[in-house]
Amino acid sequence: MSSVKIAVTGEHGQLARSMKETATQRAGFLLCCSSRVELDFATAEDQAISSFLDQAAPDVVVSAAAYTNVDLAEEEQELAFQINGKVPRILAREANRRGIPIIHVSTDYVFDGKTTQAYRETDDVAPLNVYGASKLEGERAVRDEQPNHVILRTSWLYSPYGRNFVTTMLKLAEARSTIDVVADQTGTPTSAQSLAEAIFEIALRLVRSKDGKIRGTFHAAGSGETNWAQFARFIFKQSLAPRVQRTVVKEITTRDFQSKSSRPAYSSLDSGKLMERYGVRLPCWQDDVTKVIAAIQRDRNAARE
Ligand SMILES: NC(=O)c1ccc[n+]([C@@H]2O[C@H](COP(=O)([O-])OP(=O)(O)OC[C@H]3O[C@@H](n4cnc5c(N)ncnc54)[C@H](OP(=O)(O)O)[C@@H]3O)[C@@H](O)[C@H]2O)c1
Repeated sequence: MSSVKIAVTGEHGQLARSMKETATQRAGFLLCCSSRVELDFATAEDQAISSFLDQAAPDVVVSAAAYTNVDLAEEEQELAFQINGKVPRILAREANRRGIPIIHVSTDYVFDGKTTQAYRETDDVAPLNVYGASKLEGERAVRDEQPNHVILRTSWLYSPYGRNFVTTMLKLAEARSTIDVVADQTGTPTSAQSLAEAIFEIALRLVRSKDGKIRGTFHAAGSGETNWAQFARFIFKQSLAPRVQRTVVKEITTRDFQSKSSRPAYSSLDSGKLMERYGVRLPCWQDDVTKVIAAIQRDRNAARE
């Protein structure tokens, strides 16, 4: 059988990079990625996005690019809505015109966090910040334009690549012996690598099957839940560097942290529907963090040699 061709937006983002890495280890997939250099979504016209898809000629579109700076989005509202709302609309419309499915990646920040039970896909959305509102706009746009979609909400994404909570904590620990970390926000860390593997499985099924039950909105997050302070402690414990292992995490509150945007106090996602309809369950977050830290350390050692 021929390979499944996937057009992915956001080539240098952690999710697209993880997808590229996974594609090298898994036969049967060809990726064609768009990057900001050739296609800047801040200014791109519909025609430019259409041309990218013409060139890629994909079987599935994965909409992974996003304006992801949660605090800055409060000041750059228009840009956040352009990239997180308008661009997914164009991608979904173009996918529909070509008769191919779209997988659109969304976020736990569509919820307000005023609960203590893991969110299900049917729960009410009520974003607390501009980023969450812009991502919700993207979800609605995808539903409007292409019924043949999967919207995948994920949370607290990390990888060996770029800036994320794991890489940031490891970097801070090299310079400081004590780090203040928020302890009153609970959620589900998710490895971009594990999410990438789930996306390949979903893409394959969408291409092969017309079953309506595997379409719609799904939660796709690691198993278990934690808060940022516990997450940081676990990261330091897994590090092989004695100095990093000794880093002290001082628990602070959201109020102490004083960020520009509000964040949900609780945003764990219940990914049971993904398991039920696809047979896919992402590993427990501790196992995946351990793997990612080992990969970071391997890369560092290789760079030193
Ligand atoms: N990170 C999280 O904790 C988290 C949590 C829940 C959901 N998500 C969602 O998961 C998806 C993947 O997130 P991620 O962490 O992989 O994001 P990321 O690492 O921040 O990457 C975002 C990508 O979008 C691209 N992008 C941003 N502005 C652009 C523009 N004007 N034109 C073209 N491309 C642009 C970036 O390009 P450059 O490389 O050129 O900057 C980058 O490749 C996103 O939809 C995000 O909303 C993320």
